[in-house]
Amino acid sequence: MSVSQQGLCSAPAIAVFCAAPHSSIIKDLGLLGIGQRNFKAVACLTDREVFDLSALERELAACEAPGRIVIASAGTVNSGDFDDLVSLSQLCRRYNAWLHVDAAFGAFARCSDRYGHLVEGLELADSITADAHKWLNVPYDCGIAFTRHVALHERAFSADAPYVPMEGQLPAFMNRGVEQSRRYRALPLWMTLKAYGKSGYRSLIESHCDYVKAIAQWIVDSSSYTLLCDIRLNVLVFRHEPQDSSYGTRQELNRQLIRRLNESGEMFITPTTYRGEFALRLSISNWMTRSEDVDRVINAFRTAAS
Ligand SMILES: Cc1ncc(COP(=O)(O)O)c(C=O)c1O
Repeated sequence: MSVSQQGLCSAPAIAVFCAAPHSSIIKDLGLLGIGQRNFKAVACLTDREVFDLSALERELAACEAPGRIVIASAGTVNSGDFDDLVSLSQLCRRYNAWLHVDAAFGAFARCSDRYGHLVEGLELADSITADAHKWLNVPYDCGIAFTRHVALHERAFSADAPYVPMEGQLPAFMNRGVEQSRRYRALPLWMTLKAYGKSGYRSLIESHCDYVKAIAQWIVDSSSYTLLCDIRLNVLVFRHEPQDSSYGTRQELNRQLIRRLNESGEMFITPTTYRGEFALRLSISNWMTRSEDVDRVINAFRTAAS
């Protein structure tokens, strides 16, 4: 049956499995009519933001829904964590589940020999999303969707429009996405890829990850901040944790700290919730970031906590 033709109401049951989904995934489940709450939250590995594969296998084995979608991460928003995509794809094949990978940041790690191993198996996914407006630094709203199932994808997005001539113009991108008319987002993307190429992005990505590692090391050595995650990519979560501070005080101190840091004009970091508690999140992806900025960030942290 075709969901695009007959709607979800006529579709067999669909089960969605997530471990650490980005909020946009939850929003999309709502938009698709599956429902924002209608997913199985599968356990993560201890201290990680990735699927516990044994827990997922138990869920898949017990699943009675004929439709199964597993949504994995290549670079989570908080700790830049990566699911084991090779094992996930084997599990998905065994249990006839569709594997989608949110690789908004992580896809671009493939440019680097130092980080490419994190996304091993990405090509095994049924569908992948990535964001050119993040690490590729093109203007906002330039998302990219990849799929191994182009014909299926086109069937889902096509509607008959006899007034639009198609001959000689294939692929018809209006049949490959939500929008009918769309602006030429691909142009800046194509131009930046031509201008910087793989090696240009490799050096951008590797230097951003080096900067984040240097900042993380300073946090580890500092007595007033605590690093909350291992560093895998270009993002870190941390917290101002003066000794003996209570949960409530800590939360308020960190709210004030983030305000001071952002008002300083030296940097802009974002708040987040990490393992249920307020935390600070720093991510580097702008092409203008230089090694001198690492010192500026560290000085701003030092001043803000004093
Ligand atoms: C891992 C991940 N997935 C998805 C998104 C959503 O991206 P956008 O807001 O550009 O749609 C983000 C944005 O930060 C993200 O970090």
